[in-house]
Amino acid sequence: MIQKIKQAFIEKFGKHPILVKSPGRVNLIGEHTDYNEGFVLPAAVNKAIYFAVKPNGLDKFCFYSYNLQETYETSINSIEPCQKQWANYLLGVVAQFVNDGKTVPGFDCVFGGDIPLGAGMSSSAALECGLAFALNHIYTFKYSTLEMVKFSQKAEHEYAGVQCGIMDQFAVMHGKANQVIKLDCRSQEYELFPLDMSDFMLILVNTGVKHSLASSEYNTRRKECETGVELLRKYDASINSLRDVTLDFIQNHENEFDATVYKRCTYVIEENMRLQKACEALLNTDFTEFGKQMYGSHYGLKNKYEVSCKELDLLVNIAEKVDGVLGARMMGGGFGGCTINLVKKEAVETFKNQIIASYKTPEGETPQIIEVVIEEGTHLLNE
Ligand code: GLA
Repeated sequence: MIQKIKQAFIEKFGKHPILVKSPGRVNLIGEHTDYNEGFVLPAAVNKAIYFAVKPNGLDKFCFYSYNLQETYETSINSIEPCQKQWANYLLGVVAQFVNDGKTVPGFDCVFGGDIPLGAGMSSSAALECGLAFALNHIYTFKYSTLEMVKFSQKAEHEYAGVQCGIMDQFAVMHGKANQVIKLDCRSQEYELFPLDMSDFMLILVNTGVKHSLASSEYNTRRKECETGVELLRKYDASINSLRDVTLDFIQNHENEFDATVYKRCTYVIEENMRLQKACEALLNTDFTEFGKQMYGSHYGLKNKYEVSCKELDLLVNIAEKVDGVLGARMMGGGFGGCTINLVKKEAVETFKNQIIASYKTPEGETPQIIEVVIEEGTHLLNE
């Protein structure tokens, strides 16, 4: 793929570009906890977007999407959201550098890759982080990776209209091969946990239902959590987020809550607890326990947070019935996209066969099944 992107750049622009690889991510557990200052457990994976970038000495930015075969150009003096969704992720990043007082001279950019879109694998974060990384490099802005993560997150807020948390951009930028990132989304401190996959595989199954986070449900969940926090703050002013709330505390105030807000908030508190248990299980190499927490996460997301859909639930039900599948859950924002499955190596073939026999996408096709390898986050390529 990288050679195709490089070739396309040379054909279009006649120069040799710098090359950046920016991966998608998975999340093992800890869903919808990031914007509640909780914990997440993501990792960067072996599906990526590749960038070829070079300054052009002109007053314009020129983007070419290799997959869509579409071009978008704009003057360096008019950076604002446009009608082309993919271009917004990129313009949103450029805007952050400019807002921070940098001059961003014109450049050409070709990008493309193999992260399925709308599958909950953070293709948008890969796009944002990849361009941020490339521009930081060619213009020697000297931003830290965490600063670039925050620019990318802000690009999503301001140019894509999704009030996302920090997980996706953080994982895409900071991923390490064979390790998962336990990120504290309040302090942004993180620990790397080695994931010994000698006996197991992580397998994604794509429902084929494209989620649309911007379709307001995501932002609604965020507001519902904030409503819960406001209510509880009346009793303890030190509460700033659901991270500061224990299950006992919220249970004592249940009758003051709107039933929906109560469900949302208890889900978040319980999901943080599940994540802690899952991390202990990792330290004890107890994958059975880890898988149990993954199932718990799915049922919380389905019944309390209500961000699953019938296709995701069906895929989890199929997985549950296969011996050797230790855990399965919907992954990412929800309403479509992928499930993530923790499968014993000897059960992988049976699992795949069961999925193929029992599930079709809404288009009537066999779902995409992706064997995940955990890889490095966004980085420069020397090709
Ligand atoms: C999307 C958002 C993330 C996170 C997940 C749910 O991927 O971009 O910030 O909130 O949903 O865990």
